Amino acid sequence: MKEIRIFAPATVANVACGFDVLGFCLDTVGDEMVVRRVSKKGIVITKCVGYELPMELENNVAGVAAQAFINDFNPELGIEIEIYKNIKPGSGVGSSAASAAGVVVALNELLGKPYKKEQLTTFAMKGEAVASKCEHADNLAPAIYGGFTLVKSCHPVKILKIPTPSDLFASIIHPQIEIKTADSRAALPADIPLYQAIEQWANLGSLIHALHTSDYDLIAASLNDVVIEPHRSKLIPHYHEIKNAVLKAGALGCGISGSGPSIFTLCKGEENALKVEQAMKDMYSKTEIDFDTYVSSINQQGIKILNP
Ligand code: HSE
Repeated sequence: MKEIRIFAPATVANVACGFDVLGFCLDTVGDEMVVRRVSKKGIVITKCVGYELPMELENNVAGVAAQAFINDFNPELGIEIEIYKNIKPGSGVGSSAASAAGVVVALNELLGKPYKKEQLTTFAMKGEAVASKCEHADNLAPAIYGGFTLVKSCHPVKILKIPTPSDLFASIIHPQIEIKTADSRAALPADIPLYQAIEQWANLGSLIHALHTSDYDLIAASLNDVVIEPHRSKLIPHYHEIKNAVLKAGALGCGISGSGPSIFTLCKGEENALKVEQAMKDMYSKTEIDFDTYVSSINQQGIKILNP
């Protein structure tokens, strides 16, 4: 195979109570990338379409992730990368993770699958760190593994794939403002009180149990974030109004998607997810801020190979 084209999906990190450890993968939104082998050694980003991103390797998340892979594998050939971005950087649905995870999965396919997913996640984390100024894998893991994933540890990478109840859908609103992950992380306190930690890890434990047992009521009861939301919701205009509107429309729960500004909900059934999407539209249409919304099932496969 000389070149490979892939779909690199958007992802929702944190999922309310799982800051930096829990995430899930979306189906309907994502980037495409082409990775090609060439005879001249080295890595070159030849195209970036959709959004303006740095083309120099060391400032581009895909470039840095690819370099980590190539440094380790050291093949006798060169690599060209084309990036077709649909996921807006700074939107909160894993734009940088799609690029970083996408390029290492594509390279792995192109070069005969030398690495397992955990090693690919390790390479991709180097790219993700360009965007968020720290290594974390809660967007990368669902892109690489699909479904819901829990990052048990980053050093060494240990990822657990969590089952998805069959009737679970996500509705998402993306207010058209940009929040950089690094800035959104800077808004968080370095320490939290023990009583908040207790509530948060109780919610995370019960959410994982609820996903394993397809207990939708318990999913609803667990989707609470007492640690991060109070700080970051201030950065998202009309956050609490959206939350009230979607819960009234029957969403199981709602939270900030990754570092925001996107807001995600989980819903039982597609019909309810569409109703919740409409409630988001109705509420945000009253504001001055442009927005996108979408509904997605949970993508069980993660990154998809598109070559014929
Ligand atoms: N867990 C990360 C955060 C995801 O919330 O900062 C964003 O990349």
